Amino acid sequence: MDHEDEYNETFVSYLEVIWGEGYLSPGGPAEVGRILEGLDLKGLKVLDIGCGTGGVAVSLAAEYGAARVIGVDVEDPVLTFARRRARERGLEGRVEFIKVKPGPLPFAANEFDLVFSKDSMIHIPDKEALFADVMRILKPGGRFAASDWLSSHDGAPSPVMKRYLETEGLGFGMGSPERYRRALAAAGFEDVRLVNRNAWYATVARQELTDMEGPLYAKGVAAAGQAETDRNIGIWRAMVPALEIGELCPHHLHGRKPG
Ligand SMILES: C[S@@+](CC[C@H](N)C(=O)[O-])C[C@H]1O[C@@H](n2cnc3c(N)ncnc32)[C@H](O)[C@@H]1O
Repeated sequence: MDHEDEYNETFVSYLEVIWGEGYLSPGGPAEVGRILEGLDLKGLKVLDIGCGTGGVAVSLAAEYGAARVIGVDVEDPVLTFARRRARERGLEGRVEFIKVKPGPLPFAANEFDLVFSKDSMIHIPDKEALFADVMRILKPGGRFAASDWLSSHDGAPSPVMKRYLETEGLGFGMGSPERYRRALAAAGFEDVRLVNRNAWYATVARQELTDMEGPLYAKGVAAAGQAETDRNIGIWRAMVPALEIGELCPHHLHGRKPG
């Protein structure tokens, strides 16, 4: 079955009010910097899985000096924004956005120096197949650096988490830190490292909700309409408790392909 667009123009417009232009996930450039801490991207060929509206991919070339960045996504509306962003920054030659189908990535073995992803792998339920594929397309010695939204366990979601997942209504396939760690190790990654970002995002998300209900309310309505603004406030009201109990736990993920 074809993938149905979930990140439509209205949703994207609202998220960018909260998270910044080009960003469909929390933390903006500073959080990207924390994921990439200690890595030098100059001259590298980089893949961004689930690139969304392209803010990160563009910054990997413009700010981090990557020689070439390919962003992939399964949805057309976000890719239209991303391509426009690269064009406006004069980066068309270095930053390319490609539509892919869910499943194996359409790249040759040993093609990338770095595979990056921010808060998109949550949409890919088969973590084992995903990390095996990331391992395949990385050059020997290549790095995997990402963040993603995890669940603290692989059992049935608690009522609080269930309520959040139902309110969000996106096609999520979440895994626990243990599952990610096992899947990365099984794929052959070395130096596997996971960093729990729950405490950080619980604090940030509470503030986001306060802003959404207060100082950013009118801006949200202007960008995406009142119904979309209120829908998102409802999502955050369900999400903050899931963060507060630790069950929704964004993590940074790191690994290195031997070689
Ligand atoms: C929360 S957004 C994050 C976008 C971007 N990484 C950012 O941080 O701004 C998740 C993105 O993953 C994309 N996505 C969903 N399923 C995917 C898949 N199987 N492969 C690649 N991208 C996917 C969505 O279309 C969406 O653009």
